[in-house]
Amino acid sequence: MCGIIGISSNKSVSASIINSLKKLEYRGYDSAGIATLSDGEINEVKSEGRVDSLEKNFDLKNLKGNIGIGHVRWATHGVPNSVNAHPHSSYNVSVVHNGIIENSTILKKHLISKGHNFKSQTDTEVIVHLITENLKTSELEDAITKTLKQLHGSFALGIVFKDMPDLIVGARRGSPLAVGYGPNENYLGSDSYALKSMTNKITYLDDGEFCIVKKDQVNFFNDEGKKINKKILELSSDQANYDKGDFKHFMAKEIEEQPNTIKTGIKEYIDNVNKDINIPNFPWKIEDITSITLIGCGTAYHSCLLSKYWFEELTSLDVSIDIASEFRYRKNRFKKDTLYIFVSQSGETADTYAALDLCNKNRMKTCAVVNVIESSIARDSNFVLPIHCGPEIGVASTKAFLGQILILYILSLKLGSLRGDIKKISYQEKIKDLKTLPKLIEKTLLLDNDIQSISSTFNEVKGSMFLGRGFSYPIALEGALKLKELSYIHAEGYPAGEMKHGPLALIEEGMPVVVLAPRDNYYKKTISNMQEVIARGAKVLLITNKSKNEVVSENIWETIEVQDTNDDLLPFLLTIPLQKLAYYSALKKGYDIDKPRNLAKSVTVE
Ligand code: AGP
Repeated sequence: MCGIIGISSNKSVSASIINSLKKLEYRGYDSAGIATLSDGEINEVKSEGRVDSLEKNFDLKNLKGNIGIGHVRWATHGVPNSVNAHPHSSYNVSVVHNGIIENSTILKKHLISKGHNFKSQTDTEVIVHLITENLKTSELEDAITKTLKQLHGSFALGIVFKDMPDLIVGARRGSPLAVGYGPNENYLGSDSYALKSMTNKITYLDDGEFCIVKKDQVNFFNDEGKKINKKILELSSDQANYDKGDFKHFMAKEIEEQPNTIKTGIKEYIDNVNKDINIPNFPWKIEDITSITLIGCGTAYHSCLLSKYWFEELTSLDVSIDIASEFRYRKNRFKKDTLYIFVSQSGETADTYAALDLCNKNRMKTCAVVNVIESSIARDSNFVLPIHCGPEIGVASTKAFLGQILILYILSLKLGSLRGDIKKISYQEKIKDLKTLPKLIEKTLLLDNDIQSISSTFNEVKGSMFLGRGFSYPIALEGALKLKELSYIHAEGYPAGEMKHGPLALIEEGMPVVVLAPRDNYYKKTISNMQEVIARGAKVLLITNKSKNEVVSENIWETIEVQDTNDDLLPFLLTIPLQKLAYYSALKKGYDIDKPRNLAKSVTVE
């Protein structure tokens, strides 16, 4: 996803902007650019590809100016190339933009009729010419207020002006934007992560607001152009380092970190002395919640789907789930005794934020399960349950998925206990089992070699299937998503019981099919589904848990056995081999594992 940086300083800014853009690379992008102001000119430099190629192709060290903006672009309108890269500039205005301007076609026609010339295929360029046009008849604040009202859609903007070389304008609607405060300089950034290396003092803009950032002063304005006051937050200082250490990829590091991140999550919520779960400051009476709706995208949606089984197992609550991009346009029947839970690693996913915003507008109970506690979804929810995984840099989510399902499992246990749906003895037994999870994950991570050798088979075929029932079905979906997004191979997750209703037609001789069949209540049924695909030529990779009983079938291509534990916790362990399968498959293909093609770590556009 696109990233923005802006710096207004008493010294040259180009090097700091480039360094900050590198911190935004994790978001995924396909071109980059920078614009500074010096000697009454806009110096714009941009190119397709990585920030490194910008540095290689241009002499950025001599890019003068104490004011500047930078951008990494994830293409929405217009192919990735140097013309469509940001910044976009007119003779006196330069803009970087995250988001989508939905009325750009009409605005472009209007501006061309006013004599403006366009160079790119982007929606962003209309913003440049609209501001240029409005500055002809209005002072800065009015021109900005007027421009923002004319734009439909979402944006986070960074704007500099040739004739005002001491300020940067930032504006936000639907796409996050933050201001940072430094010594003799101030900053604009898409998220706190981009600013953390320069400051830990941050102000977040809310939708409709804009700001004017000077090196020694920042002013904020509402959507009517009236000055407003905003809080300065002190960012949590992450101990977690942001480098790969001796791992080849962030994803490899984050897979191996899972025993620790799960241990941290357990420590945060489990009260060892009283064998209880602590969820401090829960803002609602338990009797005021009779149903739950869980909402997320991608991997976060899979966390919602898995937790539905736990909530149904451990509480008598009605539980529904939805993909955020569907929920936000559905004809929802909002009920005041429903708790809406938004699951999001980044806390900035546009569709999930829009779903939250809809619930807020209907005055619903909202709870965020997030990794980034300073994020928009966290800030705008009534209650936050952090997953405490530390920064997840790899675009493919691994430790955050386990962190999400851990917190959702803990919440289902706690609600079940508070409602009297589970007996105290069982509740305490499950808490005791939960504390063994980090060790079990550690042991499961050792299955490395078996998986490495298996993974190449997935590279030699045009598609594969991942099957599971019950708790294993969401894990099948997650495993398929990992393989798709890392090795660009078609992979489909399916409920094992659904195969005979059509997908069985896909099975060909030698097709790899991953069957998740832990020895839980669904085991026998899943094994018979497995027979159906074996009988039609599939090469089955069976993932199950260790047990004394032999697997009731031969003709299985490979078997991977994870540690045995209580059924509730098996989904955590079944996920590990699938993360590694996708990782090694992509490694063998030589693909960019931490930044797969076309993908972004935080999808801040719809
Ligand atoms: C996960 O591997 C994907 N990169 C993607 O599906 C991700 O889970 C989704 O975009 C949601 O992101 P979020 O958790 O930050 O909201």
